[in-house]
Amino acid sequence: MTTRAVSRPDHRAIWDIAALKARHTAIVMVTAYDYASARAAEASSVDMVLVGDSAATTMLGLASTQDVTLDEMLMITRAVRRGLVRPLLIGDMPFGTYEASNALAVDTAKRFVQAGCTAVKMEGAGPIADRVKAVVAAGIPVMGHVGLTPQQLAAGKVVRVAGRTADAALRLLDESIQLQEAGCFSLVFEAIPAVVATRLVALIAIPVIGIGAGDGTDGQVLVAYDLFGLTDGKIPRFVKQYADLKQHMVRAFTDFAEDVRRRDFPGSDHTYGGVADAELAALERSLPSVVARCCAHSSWNDSSS
Ligand code: KIV
Repeated sequence: MTTRAVSRPDHRAIWDIAALKARHTAIVMVTAYDYASARAAEASSVDMVLVGDSAATTMLGLASTQDVTLDEMLMITRAVRRGLVRPLLIGDMPFGTYEASNALAVDTAKRFVQAGCTAVKMEGAGPIADRVKAVVAAGIPVMGHVGLTPQQLAAGKVVRVAGRTADAALRLLDESIQLQEAGCFSLVFEAIPAVVATRLVALIAIPVIGIGAGDGTDGQVLVAYDLFGLTDGKIPRFVKQYADLKQHMVRAFTDFAEDVRRRDFPGSDHTYGGVADAELAALERSLPSVVARCCAHSSWNDSSS
């Protein structure tokens, strides 16, 4: 599959993220999946917005992040881009759209840039480091993702913590260095014990953004619907809910339904007026003949129906 030429992403935003690490300023990333959350992120002080494939489960109601398609991700990416100016926008390359070959990875990354992203994210290391190299060589910045990598997690499986043994921690370090050397501008560390994450971060030059990796990383990311309080079911231990939007939404729908059934809505404040009495009188004069004409020609009059 070929794609149109893409304009080069603005790499100043990438340097700004590196500068935050150099200044020991904590980096803040959130996910967003729609225009309204993008506007909220824009109005806040977050540094980066990820159009995460967590959209699959949180927004689209799918069983697993493996189920979201590239077209669905690109559609929500374009919506987020329309609402976002300042924060760095990163697109999460979905399962099955980059693993098979460098050419596929570059093609998918270009489509995210066309949709408005400055950078893309890929999960895993090993062969993925090669894909990273190819995408970076094509001029597109890449964020890596190690530890718990949800795309490898079958639907319904519980969140597992990565790096609990010395061997597993060394493997995480090896993967992180592979991705750094492949050219990643930053990494996500997901579900890693804090003591291990903190030790590894000290050995990694690029910014490491944690989710469930304790407070020793260079920054933190949370899934927007988790922090908004919109996620159903059991939420992972690492999630802090900063709002209870679901309760507000249920309340708003319930109040609306009650108002409508009581005929309290719409009141005069929410109703258009401005029709002159003379116009109403003219309408009433015209109606009988118009209704008679309509009835004569329409199926209203069809006694068989
Ligand atoms: O898809 C997502 O939301 C993510 C974050 C958890 C980093 O990958």
